[in-house]
Amino acid sequence: MTYENILVSTQNGIATITINRPSKLNALNKATIGELHNALDMANKDASVKVIILTGSGEKAFVAGADISEFADFNVEQGSALAAQGQQLLFDFIENLDTPVIAAVNGFALGGGLELAMSCHFRVASTNAKMGLPEVSLGVIPGYGGTQRLSQLVGKGRAMEMIMTAGMIDANQALSYGLVNHIQAQEELVPFCEKIASKIMRNSSVAISAAIRAVNAGFVDGVNGYQAEIDEFGKCFGTEDFKEGTTAFLEKRKADFPGK
Ligand code: COA
Repeated sequence: MTYENILVSTQNGIATITINRPSKLNALNKATIGELHNALDMANKDASVKVIILTGSGEKAFVAGADISEFADFNVEQGSALAAQGQQLLFDFIENLDTPVIAAVNGFALGGGLELAMSCHFRVASTNAKMGLPEVSLGVIPGYGGTQRLSQLVGKGRAMEMIMTAGMIDANQALSYGLVNHIQAQEELVPFCEKIASKIMRNSSVAISAAIRAVNAGFVDGVNGYQAEIDEFGKCFGTEDFKEGTTAFLEKRKADFPGK
């Protein structure tokens, strides 16, 4: 598939996916969501890719939201379908990928943009980043998981305030809320994420995927996260990575994980 709205580069085990509609502040239109789904799926299936970094092109925006021009005339059914398809194709899809996804939030992350960053496994922001869920200012609510994931990440009261005021918070406030894990100067943002990625890559990719599933299980209604952890923990004992990791420790050498 050739992409018109995103750039993909893979190097040293890291796939960097850049949303590339800078003239529209990287707003997420339908085509971009489809391309992101495809690129993320391919990266996830590529055994040489250990970490995915998601960022936006230009110096101004990560993603300034869903593309308002595409849904301004939608009716109730179309609105529901927009949210359902988006969640399935992109937001839930990212959260449940086997491969870790880091959001490098390099500017505005608003509406669907913040929802996209929140569906990644964790976030690093540039000093100029601004984050918010401004949907109620458009007469709608967040529809790509924002009401749920923002509450999970920053707590219900802070999420309520951010959603009701439709306001933006800066990188420092996002850090104090736990919405982002680190702040970096813009030019250092992706290199810093790459450094974190290289730390992740030293570990068992099979165990990391199991950890993603176990952590996520705790946020699914009706699923017992502790039981999911027991199941995932047990399964690790049947992997080649577990044999290699424990053998390497006992032999006092660095593990060379086969990723199986
Ligand atoms: N959907 C569609 N187009 C968008 C967009 C969005 N979410 N966000 C920005 N754009 C477009 C603008 O329409 C403009 O396009 P144009 O040059 O063809 O007119 C271009 O991106 C640049 O944006 P502009 O508003 O001129 O930049 P700014 O620096 O003055 O303001 C923002 C930046 C982010 C404050 C402003 O663009 C904004 O409020 N965007 C919408 C944010 C939002 O409500 N997102 C939630 C959507 S559910």
